[in-house]
Amino acid sequence: MNLEEELLSPSKEDELDASLRPSSLDAYIGQRDIKRELSIYIKAARLREEPLDHVLLYGPPGLGKTTLAYIIAHEMNSQIHLVNGPSLERTGDLASILTTLAAGDILFIDEIHRIPSVVEEVLYGAMEDFNLSVVVGRDVEARTISIKLPPFTLVGATTKAGSLSSPLRDRFGISSHFDYYEVEDLMEIVNRTSKVYSFPLTSQASYMIASRSRGTPRIANRIYRRVRDFATIYKCEIIDESICKKALDSLGIDELGLNEIDRRYLLTLIERYGGRPTGLNNIALAIGEDAVNLEDVYEPYLIKMNLVNRTPRGRIPTKLAYAHLDMLSKYKAND
Ligand code: ADE
Repeated sequence: MNLEEELLSPSKEDELDASLRPSSLDAYIGQRDIKRELSIYIKAARLREEPLDHVLLYGPPGLGKTTLAYIIAHEMNSQIHLVNGPSLERTGDLASILTTLAAGDILFIDEIHRIPSVVEEVLYGAMEDFNLSVVVGRDVEARTISIKLPPFTLVGATTKAGSLSSPLRDRFGISSHFDYYEVEDLMEIVNRTSKVYSFPLTSQASYMIASRSRGTPRIANRIYRRVRDFATIYKCEIIDESICKKALDSLGIDELGLNEIDRRYLLTLIERYGGRPTGLNNIALAIGEDAVNLEDVYEPYLIKMNLVNRTPRGRIPTKLAYAHLDMLSKYKAND
């Protein structure tokens, strides 16, 4: 597994760590706007004894969209069914899941932007009037059958709300945008994780992990586990700043939370392309990374940290990027 997979995609460890997931909205840290709104909608739906309206959760990976889907199910006293967008290849795949739903159930579709358009069209009727229309048979034998579904809630998650078609986006009554977490919230999450694992850490260590986790709880928890490995080997009773620094150096994570791939990205823009606007595909080729992954996972953070600007003519490194990589004396930076 390479560094990027290790730090950014869901893994076995995360599944093992379902115990780290809060089960109620109250225990969920951060994303205050989303929590405030959802708690009203959930209470209202429960008072009316109706299912919650369909919910779209969008934002960068690792920010707790799946965790929140589980919480919605828990707060609504509902069963949750999980599927991944790309696994719904045919309309029949979706139909067989929809027909197993009971009234009030939650259907969670992760990576909903990746469902094929023929499947998406079946979803429209299911979301709108709980009506499943499927074509059975072929050619002259083909006919459409209509099945009434129990009322359910679709929770869709995506890292790319922009790639959802507008008919699909419009069918979500509730739409919640996830932002990167504040350092204080990440510290709270790391402190909670350290209690679950019964391996304490100092507040300086907690700050160091939180401030280098790219605003992302999944990364904070994984860094914590790697630091805990170091602390175990070095027989530390408590995780302090110095053991934390050792682990972060060995993971190649710097003060801003950038890893090797982020730094190669910035170096390519500065050294190879001389700071001129550069297309994403050229950067991807130069560093040997997948362009989609760079766009969805890496760039949002580099842009948020004001290290890169995205312009219609291409990506441009900012003066801050030159300064961070200590390149101001060697190259002329963009202003
Ligand atoms: N673990 C991961 N994300 C979390 C969050 N937002 N709140 C509490 N625990 C978490």
